[in-house]
Amino acid sequence: KRISLLGVPMNLGQIYKGVALGPTAIRYAGVLERLEELHYHVTDYGDIEIKQVAPSIDEVCRLRNLDAISNISEVVASKVDTIVKSGEFPLTLGGDHSMAIGTIAGISKHFENLGVIWFDAHADLNTPETSPSGNIHGIPLAVNLGLGHEKLNTVHAYSPKIKQENIVLIGQRDLDPGEKELIKKLGIKTYTMQDIDQLGMRTVIEESIAYLKDKTDGIHLSLDLDALDPSETPGVGTPVEGGISFRESRLAMELLSESGLITSAEFVEVNPLLDQRNRTAIIAMQLITVLFGKKLL
Ligand code: ARG
Ligand code: MN
Ligand code: MN
Ligand code: MN
Repeated sequence: KRISLLGVPMNLGQIYKGVALGPTAIRYAGVLERLEELHYHVTDYGDIEIKQVAPSIDEVCRLRNLDAISNISEVVASKVDTIVKSGEFPLTLGGDHSMAIGTIAGISKHFENLGVIWFDAHADLNTPETSPSGNIHGIPLAVNLGLGHEKLNTVHAYSPKIKQENIVLIGQRDLDPGEKELIKKLGIKTYTMQDIDQLGMRTVIEESIAYLKDKTDGIHLSLDLDALDPSETPGVGTPVEGGISFRESRLAMELLSESGLITSAEFVEVNPLLDQRNRTAIIAMQLITVLFGKKLL
């Protein structure tokens, strides 16, 4: 029972700088201590260094901070790769969701068929062509499918990182037109808020596990705190009304924990400068402890 904790204070994938403080806020919420109480041996590798660069917009594709994010993703990928090799469970804290370009690059190399559960209000499936904002935190899942910009697709020297049939999206309620098209074209398994309302979270997670179980050899959980309702996790840069409740998220973590199938996880988009009394980081910490087996009784 060994976990490696790594902070990725990435904030170049969107416009709110404070998301770089996310890993610190989750640490201050006590994540390390709570995991040790659950008898895990936790190695904290600290935070990756993110040098702040002058904001840039690529003249051709309009993506913001493309070169900087490409370079940082290489560093994240190497670090995470080393962690996976060491046999410890990689738990990464963010940081905006563009960090998933690097984390998944470092992880997926070690799997034939990595499954990915993308828990998010968004799908992060824009391509450079369909992105309405140029913000790279809106494209990492497309990048991992090999559909982003070449400078991002080829991070850690291979592409694609994941297969469309090994992905499950959960919690969506703000999809851009190009993302809706891509989800339909690729047939990506998606449980929108409407599906969660109709089926209930228990069925959603049971179906997701059944869908991924036999065809994957590991599952990465990428949990964007904006999947939850902003009344409970206000400290995020792109809040969307009508989200998943803390209780439903907690249930999801419980069921994923019981499945024993999760082999890596990241908790992203915590921005303490947009938060109230560190609530969002505290909820992230609580969900992490449930994912690692914390019981109420
Ligand atoms: N779909 C929007 C965009 O591409 C918002 C993306 C939000 N992503 C996130 N990781 N919070 O700009
Ligand atoms: Mn996201
Ligand atoms: Mn999101
Ligand atoms: Mn939108």
